[in-house]
Amino acid sequence: MILKVDKVKKYFPIKKGIFLLTAGYVRALEEVSFEISEGQTIGVVGESGCGKTTLGRVIAKVYDATSGRIFYTPHGKENNAIAQAAEIRKNTEKQIMKNYRKDVQMIFQDPYNSLDPRMTIGDILAEPLQVHKVCSSEAALNETVSQLLLKVGLYPEYASRYPHEFSGGQRQRISIARAIALHPRMIICDEPTSALDVSVQSQIINLLKDLQKEYQMAYLFISHNLDVIYHVSDWIMVMYLGNVVEIATPEALFEDPLHPYTSALMKAIPNWNPEERSLGETTLQGEPPSPIAPPSGCPFHTRCEFVMERCKTDKPRLSEIGQDRKVACHLRVQ
Ligand SMILES: Nc1ncnc2c1ncn2[C@@H]1O[C@H](COP(=O)(O)OP(=O)(O)O)[C@@H](O)[C@H]1O
Ligand SMILES: [Mg+2]
Repeated sequence: MILKVDKVKKYFPIKKGIFLLTAGYVRALEEVSFEISEGQTIGVVGESGCGKTTLGRVIAKVYDATSGRIFYTPHGKENNAIAQAAEIRKNTEKQIMKNYRKDVQMIFQDPYNSLDPRMTIGDILAEPLQVHKVCSSEAALNETVSQLLLKVGLYPEYASRYPHEFSGGQRQRISIARAIALHPRMIICDEPTSALDVSVQSQIINLLKDLQKEYQMAYLFISHNLDVIYHVSDWIMVMYLGNVVEIATPEALFEDPLHPYTSALMKAIPNWNPEERSLGETTLQGEPPSPIAPPSGCPFHTRCEFVMERCKTDKPRLSEIGQDRKVACHLRVQ
């Protein structure tokens, strides 16, 4: 185990008026829990606004969680993961935090805004190496930068150029090179291909898969595209309005979606049409409710065609069903 996320919540306060009083909260994440191990990919899928990016940012420590805990097992301590895990929070010891930032990297959706336009590619890639004092000389630094560019399928000569000279796909390769510069143990990939041309998307996914094999990295792979998620994930977490509503392997999830929301998401994939679906033909109506005033009970009950009386008041817990599967739905868990 590298990372354990335990009941993590993230509420963003809404400030109003000249005194900036808190008028309410955007409930972006509601008690999300999961674990991720070496070399594993956890896919995170769900409609826009369901909290995917917030989850990535809380793990990457861009945001502090409102509540809940994140545990991290330092390198070499995996055999005794639970005993050795360090809790990542505001006052975590500096050295552990520094290692954590080195070990957990993030790649963003928009390759046009994620690279500083005033820096050369060489400087962009050298920066993390310098901060963590990885190279002993200027020559070693330049050599490492060249190797990184080659690793992601770019020429070392590109080091002297600026981001605007590259296409979206090439920029995403540069972002990937920057993310792997410090040999991280985990990368949070936040919709890394959704801003790219379809023709380039699979190249980037293949590159990420190759690098994962070579370096045994874990990925938290966020996407609203179930098709992409199916192809990269060992496990898929389906999110709805800040909640994880189902966790399963890609095969189990696609062949037999247990949550009506998962089933409805599948329906939206044009070329994925398994003949038998356990919950029949489900369609998603309208927009998800606002995370400022989420529904009582099951967050999905306002759009669920199988809604029962108890779903309106009683929130289903994410519960184990059979082996290796979890679902939060009263239809499935009594
Ligand atoms: N910094 C922020 N301040 C306030 N609300 C935010 C912030 N970031 C995200 N949100 C809100 O939290 C919810 C989840 O957003 P996000 O994590 O970006 O979803 P996703 O990545 O799944 O589209 C949305 O309602 C969004 O508007
Ligand atoms: Mg997002």
